[in-house]
Amino acid sequence: MTQETKRLRVLTGDRPTGKLHLGHYIGSLKARVAFQDKYECFFIIADLHALTTRPKKSDIEQMRENIREMVLDYLAVGIDPEKSTIFVQSAIPETYELNLIFEMLVTLPRLTRLPTIKDMARAANIEEDKLPFGLVGYPVLQAADILLPRAHLVPVGRDNLAHVELTRQIARRFNRYYGEVFPLPEAIIPDVEVLPGIDGEAKMSKSRGNAILLSDDPETVRQKVMKIKTSPRRPEEPGDPETSIPLLYHRLFNDDQDEVAELWERYRKGGITDKEIKERLARALNRFLDPIRERRAQYARHADMVEEILVEGTRRMREEARKTMDRVHEAMGMYGVVEIARKAAEAERPPSLLSE
Ligand code: TRP
Repeated sequence: MTQETKRLRVLTGDRPTGKLHLGHYIGSLKARVAFQDKYECFFIIADLHALTTRPKKSDIEQMRENIREMVLDYLAVGIDPEKSTIFVQSAIPETYELNLIFEMLVTLPRLTRLPTIKDMARAANIEEDKLPFGLVGYPVLQAADILLPRAHLVPVGRDNLAHVELTRQIARRFNRYYGEVFPLPEAIIPDVEVLPGIDGEAKMSKSRGNAILLSDDPETVRQKVMKIKTSPRRPEEPGDPETSIPLLYHRLFNDDQDEVAELWERYRKGGITDKEIKERLARALNRFLDPIRERRAQYARHADMVEEILVEGTRRMREEARKTMDRVHEAMGMYGVVEIARKAAEAERPPSLLSE
């Protein structure tokens, strides 16, 4: 048995929003790096999903740069293209095909009931009676992403759990109607999920401008850290460390956990200023980010590197996609694809030199 058939397969990914931040690291990237040694990993850049909220042409053109920055961040944190497959969703024609087949296996009310669809519409300023058909179909397309490489595990945030549940339902239904083709994938939800922003908001987010980016330079990091929101308190009086955002960041990113324990204790007893906590945090974060910056710069130095990695990942994903679609078409008994399309493709082949 080859390695490939033994190892469980992971699929996860992101819409191409550009540069990633510490919240992405804690919520997903850190786990992805670890999964690479245990599972066969596929990371999708979901640019088709970004179309569901009807972007302008200039936004679509911007995706080229967003994809590049995001992939540089993947590589910078240690996602290794030798171990994992990073690919671009829109470059896989089989995704569109499987999406259509899955559309037959879901009812409309099942989709419109999902709160995520309304949330995304609201975030994109789309009125409720103007939902694009494709936005309603967002989770069906996601099911196609997950099942195309026949993934077993899907690491996602809690907000995506309902989509993985729908994916299981689609897989179950397909297998029951047409025969066993798909595994029933399971979601993996991270322990630490949401990192608060530097403004004290519950979630770090680039659009809110409260994020520390993985690619921020040391001075920018220092300035952002000094601005982190803290509640007014007297430094000499006892405080509750659990309520301090700088201390939370210390706990998650400081490699010197003795220092963290000391800060924690002094905060609890009284006798430490927020300024000192932040100054030490800036140093700890920059220690954490230095190797990430270095790796990012290494990859960025070679202009074509990111593109080569994406081309190779996409080629690799297409191999799997073709296998899956062959099985799907066979299982469904689709004469049009299995025989007519195949023969038409053969007839298109240029005559070989030998037959001249
Ligand atoms: N829906 C995910 C998000 O909110 C992106 C995504 C698209 C995805 N396809 C996926 C995640 C497949 C996991 C698996 O950003």
